[in-house]
Amino acid sequence: MSGAQGKAAEIAHAVAIVAEVDKSRIDTRMEQGWIKKCAETPEESIRLAKESMERKEAMSIAYHGNIVDLLEYASAERIHIDLLSDQTSCHNVYNGGYCPVGITFEERTRLLQEDQTKFRKLVDETLVRHFNAIKGLVAEGTYFFDYGNAFMKSVFDAGVTEISKNGRDDKDGFIWPSYVEDIMGPMLFDYGYGPFRWVCLSGKHEDLKATDRAAMEAIDPERRYQDRDNYNWIRDAEKNQLVVGTEARILYQDAQGRIDIALKFNQLVREGKIGPVMIGRDHHDVSGTDSPFRETSNIKDGSNVTADMAVQCYAGNAARGMSLIALHNGGGTGIGKAINGGFGLVLDGSELVDDIIRSAISWDVMGGVARRNWARNEHSMETSIAFNKEKNGSDHITIPYLTDDEAVKRAVEKYVK
Ligand SMILES: NC(=O)c1ccc[n+]([C@@H]2O[C@H](COP(=O)([O-])OP(=O)(O)OC[C@H]3O[C@@H](n4cnc5c(N)ncnc54)[C@H](O)[C@@H]3O)[C@@H](O)[C@H]2O)c1
Repeated sequence: MSGAQGKAAEIAHAVAIVAEVDKSRIDTRMEQGWIKKCAETPEESIRLAKESMERKEAMSIAYHGNIVDLLEYASAERIHIDLLSDQTSCHNVYNGGYCPVGITFEERTRLLQEDQTKFRKLVDETLVRHFNAIKGLVAEGTYFFDYGNAFMKSVFDAGVTEISKNGRDDKDGFIWPSYVEDIMGPMLFDYGYGPFRWVCLSGKHEDLKATDRAAMEAIDPERRYQDRDNYNWIRDAEKNQLVVGTEARILYQDAQGRIDIALKFNQLVREGKIGPVMIGRDHHDVSGTDSPFRETSNIKDGSNVTADMAVQCYAGNAARGMSLIALHNGGGTGIGKAINGGFGLVLDGSELVDDIIRSAISWDVMGGVARRNWARNEHSMETSIAFNKEKNGSDHITIPYLTDDEAVKRAVEKYVK
């Protein structure tokens, strides 16, 4: 449990149960107000959830225990769950990221130190039970999606070949969609929308409020439904009390949105209205990451298993003058499964930074849109065509030629023996 799920569920007016084996995590999130109630048994969790649903009130409930116990109970009792995912740290499944069922969190910590072989065996057995419980719930109508924590890959590695799409290996993905394939890719990344971030370096909350207002003014909520969601998000950010540490925000925006907002912030810094601001983004974005199990899982032209998008993003950002650049391995889905290119840019109010914003952010976002467009993702093609029109020759993305797949297949069969 990161706490984010409970908070997100309440913002979306849902009722959520989040399993967590480590009580200290639940206590922290309850103190922060990100989780409202805590239950000690699956029965109690479900009862509390049903009560909130009957009252039609948004609610975040932590279940102190193992997710497998909760799901097996729900499956046996035929409790309907609309939406289900997993956010245990499966990217690090054998080193403590995932707790075996049947032992407490404290026993898991001891076993991890004393007997790695037994620990591994228990993790694998738990993953198999976890898979079977989800399978039963999906058969009853639950929508399950992989959250990008390498859960399905871990289940596959634990010996469940049934979870692989081709029944053989992990090269064609898994039977349930990763949320990038089904949701984030087609609805957001393909247009260039991704998690733009900023930190108010003054540490002043007043500065954060001023940046919220500036970001809101830069969004036209009538343009697309994604813009309406983003507008509502930033409008309500203060009310939803999202800051637990640094005075920072995250806001989904496309390339132009990120540029407009960054320019506005830089202007506020120039006018002395706020202190300097550092902008950046999550690695889980349109362009910065190559990860076939997550960020690039909806790039279907075969290039999703290469690492060039992140490297080009990183190198272009370096050349264009970002303050900080990073190229690293493993973010999110784990070491060996992803390459990430990241950046940070300090807005100091200078005109030079205005120029960097225009050229580097465009590169940072549109490189990924271009790549998705070459894979013939519908919305990326639309976005690239619109980009070319707007740039009118100053920047240009090549557009793929569309062919009839069947005609290509027939030609290959005819001439290639
Ligand atoms: N898609 C995204 O945007 C995104 C964002 C953040 C994190 N992630 C991924 O999600 C995973 C979790 O991230 P995090 O920051 O929340 O990690 P975390 O380690 O802080 O939290 C995971 C929690 O799961 C608990 N846990 C482990 N096994 C359990 C079990 N069997 N039953 C109940 N609880 C169990 C742990 O005690 C821990 O508190 C990581 O793999 C991360 O890469 C994805």
